[in-house]
Amino acid sequence: MNKTSIILIASILSAALCGAIIYEAYKAWKINNLPPTPVKSNTDGYYIVNMLSQSSLFNLNIQLEWVAGQNFVNDPSNPVIERLSFKINFDNYNELSIKITDIDDTRFTLPYKEPFPYTKVTYEPSKESLFDYIISVPGEAFYFKLWRKDTGEVLFDTTNTPLIFQDKYLQITNKLNKSALFGLGERRTTFKLKSGQYSIWAADAARIDYGHPGEQIYGTHPMYLKRDDATKNFHVLFLRNAYGMEIDYQENESITYKVIGGNFDFKFFLGNNNPEEPIKLYHNYINGWILHPFWVQGFHQCRWGYKTSEELMQVWDKFNELSIPIDSLWSDIDYMYEFYDFTIDLSRFNISQMKQIYDLKDPKGVHWSSIIDVGIAIGSDAAVRGQELNTFIKSGYTGQDLIGNVWPGNTYYPDFNHPNSTQFWFEGLNNITKNYGLVQEGIWIDMNEFSNFVNGEVLPSVKDSKFLSNQTLKSEKSSLQLPFNPQGDTDLEFKTLSLNAKHYNEKDGLMLHIPNYNLTQYDMHNLNGFGESIATYEAAKLMGRNLTFILSRSTLFGSGKYVQHWNGDGFSQWDYLFYTIPGIINFQMYGIPFVGDDICGLNGNATPELCARWMQLGSLYPFSRNHNGNESISQEPYAFPDYHYVLSSSIKTLNVRYQLLKFYYHLFVKEQGSGTIFRPLMWSFPNDDEALNYEAEFMLGDYLLAAPVVAQGNEVTNTTGLDFYIPQGGVFYDFYNQQRYTEGKYHQDVPFDSVVPLFVKAGKIVHIQDQKPVLRSRFLDNHFTLYIALDSNLYASGSILTINDYNNDENIIRNCLEGANCVTIIEAQGKFENNSFSISLKNTQEQKNTQFQEVVIDKVIIAGISTFGNYISKIVDISSNPFIINKDKQQYDININLQ
Ligand code: NOJ
Repeated sequence: MNKTSIILIASILSAALCGAIIYEAYKAWKINNLPPTPVKSNTDGYYIVNMLSQSSLFNLNIQLEWVAGQNFVNDPSNPVIERLSFKINFDNYNELSIKITDIDDTRFTLPYKEPFPYTKVTYEPSKESLFDYIISVPGEAFYFKLWRKDTGEVLFDTTNTPLIFQDKYLQITNKLNKSALFGLGERRTTFKLKSGQYSIWAADAARIDYGHPGEQIYGTHPMYLKRDDATKNFHVLFLRNAYGMEIDYQENESITYKVIGGNFDFKFFLGNNNPEEPIKLYHNYINGWILHPFWVQGFHQCRWGYKTSEELMQVWDKFNELSIPIDSLWSDIDYMYEFYDFTIDLSRFNISQMKQIYDLKDPKGVHWSSIIDVGIAIGSDAAVRGQELNTFIKSGYTGQDLIGNVWPGNTYYPDFNHPNSTQFWFEGLNNITKNYGLVQEGIWIDMNEFSNFVNGEVLPSVKDSKFLSNQTLKSEKSSLQLPFNPQGDTDLEFKTLSLNAKHYNEKDGLMLHIPNYNLTQYDMHNLNGFGESIATYEAAKLMGRNLTFILSRSTLFGSGKYVQHWNGDGFSQWDYLFYTIPGIINFQMYGIPFVGDDICGLNGNATPELCARWMQLGSLYPFSRNHNGNESISQEPYAFPDYHYVLSSSIKTLNVRYQLLKFYYHLFVKEQGSGTIFRPLMWSFPNDDEALNYEAEFMLGDYLLAAPVVAQGNEVTNTTGLDFYIPQGGVFYDFYNQQRYTEGKYHQDVPFDSVVPLFVKAGKIVHIQDQKPVLRSRFLDNHFTLYIALDSNLYASGSILTINDYNNDENIIRNCLEGANCVTIIEAQGKFENNSFSISLKNTQEQKNTQFQEVVIDKVIIAGISTFGNYISKIVDISSNPFIINKDKQQYDININLQ
C-alpha cells in the first residue's frame, strides 16, 4: 500500500461522504503511525481488507479475505469462512453497532425484532458522534480500533491480535486500557470482575467463586459495563450472540471472545460518569423490563419439602400467630402428583384446605405461587397432549421425541420454537385452575437451562429407567474439536440435552426461522429458558393476568420483558450470603431488576445467626423469599425457638420492608421499564474509587444506602462488628434515628437481634408508612410519612405515586404504564426566619397528564436542620391537618419549633 493509494482512498471517501464521520476516521488514520504487522492466527493465516463495498453517512461495509499461510490446513468439519463482511453502523451519537459475518450475511443471526434486541433509536442529527475509529485499508491485514472522540478512551482495539472466523469457532480480542469491568453473567462472583475465563453456557449449577470466577450458572448475558480509570466514564458493550462462549479477561490488558457460532455482533452504548445512562440505553435495546404486581413486593415463604397441605397450613398458622408479614406461601415440586407438571397430588394436598390458605378475601389469605418444571413426565396426560401437538424437541439419533430425565423420571422437553408450544403450555397451566380451582398467581419456572439428570439423552434401550445416575448414555460425543470448552472441564452436554437434538425451524417458528438450516440444541441451548419464559408469559396473559409474576431460573438478554428472576441454588454459608449482593446488582444491569436470592440459603443447614442476618439483608432484596432445600433443617423465621433473636429480628426487619414497600415499588414504576433499582455505591458516587471496594453495601435508587452484616460475629456478645463506608462527598442520615454521617469509614457493633443499618441520602425525600405492623401488602393504606433528609441548602426532593389502589393491576396499568404517568415530584425547602424554622412542601407532576388519585401525608421526619454547626432532626405529626396530594402544584408549609 503506497502513499498515493492511501490518499486516493481517503479522498474518494471524503468526497462520497461529504467529510462526515467516516472521513474523520480516515483522517485520523492518515495521521496515525504505520499499520501494524499482519498477525497470524492459530489457524495459520489472517484476514486482509479486500474492499470497501458500500458506505453511507451512517454505515461502512468492508470485505475481509482470508490469506492462508504455508502450514494452513482447513478443517472440513469447522472450515474457515474465507470472505467476511465487517460493518459499522452509527446508530446514534452514543450508540454504535459492529457486525462481522460471512460476506452474504447468511449465518445464524437472532432476528432484529422482538423478542430479540434491536436498535430503536434513529440518529439525532443535531448531535455529533462520540465515536471515532481507524480500520486497515485494502491490502492490509485486518485491524480495527474504536475510541471516544471527546476523551480519547479506547473502546475496542484489535491491533496485533488475531481474528479467527471458522464455522463453529470465532475469536476476537479487544485490548483494554486501565479500567474496571462488571457483568458477563450469569455467575456467582464479585461485582468487579477479576481476571479469569468467563464461560457462557446455561447450566444447572450452584457454583460459587472459589478462585474460578468464570464458572457459569443459569443465564446468558454477554454484556459488560466498563468504567475507565482515567476519565471515570462508563460504557456498555454487548455481544449480541447467544451461542456458548468463553470470555478470557485479563484485567487492564485484554478481553478475548471465543464463541462457538453465529457472528460477532457488537453493540456499544456510551455514557458519561453516570452508569445509569448507558445501562438504560442497553435496556431499551433489549426491549426493557416489565412491572410486577404490587403484592409480589411483599415477603414470600417457600421450601422444597412442604409435602402436604397440612404442612402449608401449619406454616401459614405460625406466620399468623406470630404476626410475621407475608404475602405469598409457595409450593415447590412437592404439590405435584409424581412430579408431573400441571397436576396436584390430591392424596396429600386437600383442595379445600388450600383454598382456605389462598383465599384473598380472608384478611389472612395469601397468594399461591408454585413451580412448573420444564421436563414433561412420560406417562402423564401432558406428555400425551404434547405429542398430539407434536411440540417436543426431537432426538438427533432416533428422530423421535428426545428423552431426558428429571424429577419424575424420564421426560420430554417442549420445543418453544414450535408454534403449538404456546397452546400446549397454556392448556397445561390453565389445567391447574380448571381442574382444581386454584390460581397460580406466581408462576415459578425451574430447571429451564434445560436441566437433565443424564448427559445428552436417554436412548431407547434404557428408556424405562427412573432416576438414572449421571452417566452419559450415548457413546457419541460432539465431533467438534474446539480449542476451548465453554463449560470449563465438563462436556457441553453435561446435565443438559444432546447438542444434535432438533428444533422446529419453519417460517412460523415462534422465536426464529433460519432458512435452509438444521436447527439444533447446539444453536438453541442458551435460548431454552427464554423460549419457556415467553410461552409462560403468553399463557399468563391468556389466563387473564394483568401484571404478571413469573420467576425464571434461566434467563437471556431480553428476558426481563417477560419474567423476573432469583439467583438459583446456593448454600447456607456466609460467603453465599455476601455473593447475593453482586448477584442482584448484576441482574439490574441485565435488565431484570426484580430479583432475589434464597433467604437463609437452599443447600445445607442455616445456623440461627446466618439466618437472622440473611433475613435482615433479604428484607431489602427486590424479591424477598425465604427458600430452603428438601434435605435441610427448617429455616422459617420462627424455626429457631432457642434463638429468639431470629424471630424478633425477622419481624422487625420485615416491618421495615413493609414500611418501605410502596416506596420500593414506586422505584420500579418510576423507571418505566428501563434502568436499575438495587445499585452499587458507585452508581451514586462514580468519582469515588474507594467506593468500588465496598461491595457489600448497596443503594436503593439514589435514596437509601444499606450496609448489611454479611459476616459471622461473636456468639458470646451476640453482636458483629461492622465496618462501613460513606462515600466521598456523601452525607447520610440514619433511617432509624436520624444521626448524621459524612464521608468516611465507620464501625458499629450490630446486635444479632437488629435490622439492616440503613441511611437516607441528604437531599432526598423517602416516603414511608406507619410502623404499626401490616401483615399483608394489600392492607397498607394511603397515608405516608415523608422522611426529608435536607442537604446543605436545606433542600430535598423525592417522588411518590399518585395512586390510591396499588392492589388493582388495572389501576396501575391505566395510570402508571402504557404511556401514562402517575409520579409526582415532592420538594421540600427549609428556611430560617426570625429565629424560627419552616419547611415548605410542594408537589409538581413529573410529566404532563398525570392522573391524580388522593395521597395523604400526615407526618414528616426532617433530618439535617443545621443550627450553629449542629444538626438536629424533628418529627412533626400533621395528621390533624394533613398535606393531601390530589392535584398538581400544591404547597404546604410547616412551621417547626426548634426548642
Ligand atoms: C431447583 C431449584 O433451583 C430449587 O429452588 C428448587 O427447590 C428445586 N429445583 C426443586 O424444585
